[in-house]
Amino acid sequence: MSQLIDDIKKKKELSDISDKFVREELRNYLKRNFKAKKFLASEFSPRSAYYKKIIKDVRTQLRRSYGLFRRKGKVIKEFNKTANSKETITEILKSHSSTRERLEFYSEIYRKIFKITKDPKMILDFGCGLNPFSYSYMRLPHLTYFAYDLATDEIKLINDYFKKSKIKGRAYALNVLQTNQIKKLPQADIAFLFKMTDVLDKGKNHKNTEEVLKAIPARFVVVSFPTVTMSGRKMNFPRRKWIELLCERLKYELNYFEVGNELFYVIGKEKKLFPKFVNKGGKTSLREKLIEKIKRNKENKTKKIRKKQ
Ligand SMILES: C[S@@+](CC[C@H](N)C(=O)[O-])C[C@H]1O[C@@H](n2cnc3c(N)ncnc32)[C@H](O)[C@@H]1O
Repeated sequence: MSQLIDDIKKKKELSDISDKFVREELRNYLKRNFKAKKFLASEFSPRSAYYKKIIKDVRTQLRRSYGLFRRKGKVIKEFNKTANSKETITEILKSHSSTRERLEFYSEIYRKIFKITKDPKMILDFGCGLNPFSYSYMRLPHLTYFAYDLATDEIKLINDYFKKSKIKGRAYALNVLQTNQIKKLPQADIAFLFKMTDVLDKGKNHKNTEEVLKAIPARFVVVSFPTVTMSGRKMNFPRRKWIELLCERLKYELNYFEVGNELFYVIGKEKKLFPKFVNKGGKTSLREKLIEKIKRNKENKTKKIRKKQ
């Protein structure tokens, strides 16, 4: 197994993923692929075509959830050599597509989030990427910030940055899908799940996001989505109805706003905190609208049944 993991990680863009995560992906692959499991249990040759196929398949799987988003520049590698200056931080934020897009909007995004949640004392950032480098845009000097991702070299970079800037917090290697671990994390005010649902759900249903959302020990979870397609076109209907319905079912309060090319849902897990929750238009809450819609659908169904009778 460990030779296989080493071979999988031989591709440069996958080399900094933690062994633990590669092992998990490999196990998932073998669970689905009995032939491969049998092959590895027998006396196989690392030169055989089938061994190479297993490596290729697992790499594809890893790229889907991990590699696709990285655009590593020299800037990250050089961080340790350079000063912890504003320019360096900006360059780092520019080196990842999500943080690059947010760069001119960070202050506005955090202002809008904290207007809803009130200033937090502790934030957990899941699948953080390079987002912790936006810490200074939050303007919260007493904040404690814990960040989690699979990318071990970025975790090291974030920890160096936190240390140099005397920021209270730490970054850790953690697979967000391991909800048992997530449940044990410290209770926080806010958790970020920025652009993470596609990564977690892997094109299937939204069960993984639901489990993660339920497990996160925070009063608020901020989930974000792009509002442009992969080809850069603005989406006509960027809102994700599925998450609105999911929150409705879980009785979580919901608010949303759009900034730049991103849509943010601020999800309140403790309903009692929100006697009144207003949406972007400032009139009716999303929750109220959804309840109305469900009621109308029920009434229409009853009418139809009555007509048939
Ligand atoms: C689209 S990026 C989003 C980064 C960051 N949240 C942002 O919006 O700036 C997805 C991130 O999730 C991380 N990731 C993917 N699967 C993960 C998992 N199962 N557990 C933890 N992190 C994961 C990747 O390494 C990558 O940094």
